[in-house]
Amino acid sequence: MPTLRVLITEAQIQERVKALGAQIDRDCGPGPIYLIGTLKGSCFFLADLARAIDCPVRIDFIGAASYGNRTETSGQVKITKDLDSSIEGCDVILVEDIVDTGTTLEYLLEMLALRKPKTLRVAAILDKPSRRKHDVPVEYVGFSVPDEFLVGYGLDYAQDYRQLRDVCVLSQ
Ligand code: IMP
Ligand code: MG
Repeated sequence: MPTLRVLITEAQIQERVKALGAQIDRDCGPGPIYLIGTLKGSCFFLADLARAIDCPVRIDFIGAASYGNRTETSGQVKITKDLDSSIEGCDVILVEDIVDTGTTLEYLLEMLALRKPKTLRVAAILDKPSRRKHDVPVEYVGFSVPDEFLVGYGLDYAQDYRQLRDVCVLSQ
């Protein structure tokens, strides 16, 4: 039977997201800031982060898949949904659930940079630095986490557990 152990509580997440929003306001004003969420894992973080930012925010999504139903990256990134509008000349923050090997992020950053945003930064609620294979810049990190498989606050295992309010360690 799979078991869940709470690693980061809902209250800890909410406090940290508020601080990240305030930091983004200090760095990026006057806006608008284009928050681009990577589907599907970042949807809850994006919703909370957008409401923690005071300056005007616009929202778009990009679909990227690198995992299938396994817990190890395939190393290949597939775009499943592109942006709805141009980001040329815009202040963009790519919003990620977790940066693990960095494969997905490196691919997306290269792709988005070609579209000539004014600035392009990254916010990730979770960061697993011990697993990094690609040196990618992450300006706004919620929590550094150990090398364990995590679910909740948007993160899934085979599409399950995304709606958990805490971030939990899943053990099979
Ligand atoms: P990367 O390309 O290896 O950095 O992997 C990034 C993506 O892998 C994330 O956006 C997640 O969708 C997924 N991922 C990485 N680690 C975990 C985890 O611990 N739990 C659930 N999904 C994960
Ligand atoms: Mg993801």
